[in-house]
Amino acid sequence: MAERLRVAAPDTHYDIVIEAGLFAGANLADHFRSDGRLAVITNVTLQRLYGDLLRLALPEALIIAVPDGEAHKTLATVAQMYAEMVDGGLDRQSTVVAFGGGVVGDMAGFAAATYMRGVSLVQVPTSLLSMVDSSVGGKVGVDLPQGKNLVGAFKQPEVVLIDPALLATLPARERACGMAEIIKHGLIADPILLDLISRRASLEHDAELIRRAVQVKIDVVQQDPYEQGIRAYLNLGHTFGHAIEQASGYALAHGEAVGIGLVAAALLSARLGMIDAGLVDEVRRLVTLVGLPTRMGALDPEVVYDFMRSDKKKKAGKLRFVLLSGIAQPQIAADVDVQDVLAVLTELRGHG
Ligand SMILES: NC(=O)c1ccc[n+]([C@@H]2O[C@H](COP(=O)([O-])OP(=O)(O)OC[C@H]3O[C@@H](n4cnc5c(N)ncnc54)[C@H](O)[C@@H]3O)[C@@H](O)[C@H]2O)c1
Ligand SMILES: [Zn+2]
Repeated sequence: MAERLRVAAPDTHYDIVIEAGLFAGANLADHFRSDGRLAVITNVTLQRLYGDLLRLALPEALIIAVPDGEAHKTLATVAQMYAEMVDGGLDRQSTVVAFGGGVVGDMAGFAAATYMRGVSLVQVPTSLLSMVDSSVGGKVGVDLPQGKNLVGAFKQPEVVLIDPALLATLPARERACGMAEIIKHGLIADPILLDLISRRASLEHDAELIRRAVQVKIDVVQQDPYEQGIRAYLNLGHTFGHAIEQASGYALAHGEAVGIGLVAAALLSARLGMIDAGLVDEVRRLVTLVGLPTRMGALDPEVVYDFMRSDKKKKAGKLRFVLLSGIAQPQIAADVDVQDVLAVLTELRGHG
């Protein structure tokens, strides 16, 4: 059965439709208004898997496929999109359908925000992370050689169409990485979501898992659309996670590093007397259950800490942590002692 969630955004609102089989069954264009030409922007991997279905679902659309991978989330790839959009006759009345994970969604969203000063955008997220996180909230953009997501815009979609059946082809490692963000959403706002994960939600439960996880993101971005305050709660596990990801030389995927980062945030919260050891164990248990690591192997705590500090310098701010004083009780801590951070990082050494 289709679920429809409503998102209020500045000056507009849009729906998120969640329905298993939505993409295979129907004409996708029935789900949004479009007065002009359609372009589907996807990547070559998804084109190989879903190209035939895409042509059936949106027969009139121009299909633009870019290379796969974060390495291609660049202005050069967006320039390729613009060129194909001009050649394909897209004008101001056109609609861009972003069909892919967060990389495609962010880039196609940026192209839609800027092409002819902005055309309509429909998000069709295909990875678990993009379904519960990146396709909602309006942040779009690309990386620069100097750092990730340094160029971007806010661009609200007309609609977000989520078909959990698309997850059947998602590699297991990517699925686990998406689960890291879902655990994060559960920890900051929704204990029932954590119960669903514990019950090892199978594909039939995916729609419910996604619905609850998306609802957390909706609630946060509605309260803080331009990231001035509580949207920072979505960074739970990410101050540690980003640094661990970088210190590993990206051998650890983002979601894997975030899994470890969630354990780190729990350990730090316990160390500061905000939660007891039982909740730390619960976070470890959940992270392990979804197939993610809880420790950072041989990475040196000092090296990880240096990455945290250099990240902070780039953002010209203080080292800030999102901590927990309980499930669904996130708190921002700005003045954490270096020794406490290093002690937590030391506890994360080893494997498991
Ligand atoms: N805009 C935001 O608010 C926001 C939030 C979080 C993350 N992000 C961004 O999202 C990106 C990460 O997104 P991601 O984790 O989806 O990565 P991704 O887009 O690279 O997708 C991961 C991999 O899975 C493949 N894939 C996706 N769906 C598939 C499917 N159904 N079947 C088979 N393969 C599939 C992709 O081709 C890719 O190889 C990062 O660039 C990050 O900065 C943005
Ligand atoms: Zn993340």
